[in-house]
Amino acid sequence: MGARTDVALAVAGLHKKFTKRHKPPVVAVDHISVEVAYGKIVGLLGPNGAGKTTTIKCILGLMEPDGGEISVCGYDARRQRAAAMSRVAAVLEGARNIYWRLSVWENLEYFAGLNGIGGRDGALYFQQLLQRFGLEDKKDTTVLELSQGNKQKVAVACALAKRTPLVFLDEPTLGLDVETSYQLRQAIKDMVRDEGRTIVISSHDMAVVQDVCERVVIMANGRIIADDQVQNLLALFRTREYLVKLARDLTREGQEIIQEQFPQAVITSDGHDPSVRVQLINGQDIYRLIDVMRQANADIASITQEEPDLEKAFVELVRKERANGNG
Ligand SMILES: Nc1ncnc2c1ncn2[C@@H]1O[C@H](COP(=O)(O)OP(=O)(O)OP(=O)(O)O)[C@@H](O)[C@H]1O
Ligand SMILES: [Mg+2]
Repeated sequence: MGARTDVALAVAGLHKKFTKRHKPPVVAVDHISVEVAYGKIVGLLGPNGAGKTTTIKCILGLMEPDGGEISVCGYDARRQRAAAMSRVAAVLEGARNIYWRLSVWENLEYFAGLNGIGGRDGALYFQQLLQRFGLEDKKDTTVLELSQGNKQKVAVACALAKRTPLVFLDEPTLGLDVETSYQLRQAIKDMVRDEGRTIVISSHDMAVVQDVCERVVIMANGRIIADDQVQNLLALFRTREYLVKLARDLTREGQEIIQEQFPQAVITSDGHDPSVRVQLINGQDIYRLIDVMRQANADIASITQEEPDLEKAFVELVRKERANGNG
């Protein structure tokens, strides 16, 4: 593979295994190939141990892969290492690698400075970042004195301050409260929109991924098991699950009638939000469902189709992968 100039990231056949004496080797990354176009936010998902962090570390040159090609903004990560590495920044899981004894501003100056960003332009940009992250009044505060959420925001801001076209954020919203997580997500989306940055976010928080990313890559057992637009993945898992809310409890007889006709139905009828949840195989079954409800003397308050979410799709994909005997 020649270095790819048309995409922010190109990975081909990347593999990495860990060997320990007297133990079978762990294949952390199993020949994966993936490309990320400029100006996109891509989610990297996968259960614990899927190989996400190992993949990111290999791309960042923090870990030596066993093989495969990596190109960052057109530069080969091995043969043109310096050029490639100056175009990518990252915040890695756990390691909030900022200096706690320096102020927020000093951290920005330091990390951006490593990439040659500074001077008046730099200062203007840092000011903008602080604004986006709601950290203006913390500018001169020592990181040590900041709350966990603000430390995390500073770590992300420092990665972004390097102004690299490609940024990796490994679990950026871990442990953040709802408002802070929302603010961080908004800031990330705005930056991609305004500056055409390319961001790869790994997260276990599906709501975050569904909100921020257009496309997701799902890993399991070191392999990529899905790579698609979020919308397509959701469509794939659009089940015909219906929720029938009832105005009052069902009689015992009514429950039996429903259960007999729809053995899979989950009936809740204990005086508290009575409902029937049922999966219908084909669209016509909705008429049969209504007929059966009438027979059961059910007082229907509403019928809604359950919307799939990314979490359900994810769980289903990983379950299938495991059922296929992988992992
Ligand atoms: N330095 C290491 N030495 C040995 N094994 C490792 C090392 N780093 C990772 N592994 C193993 O490689 C596999 C992939 O780990 P990795 O950290 O990449 O997963 P992950 O997808 O980031 O998981 P998580 O969601 O928990 O962060 C796991 O089986 C892990 O135990
Ligand atoms: Mg990880």
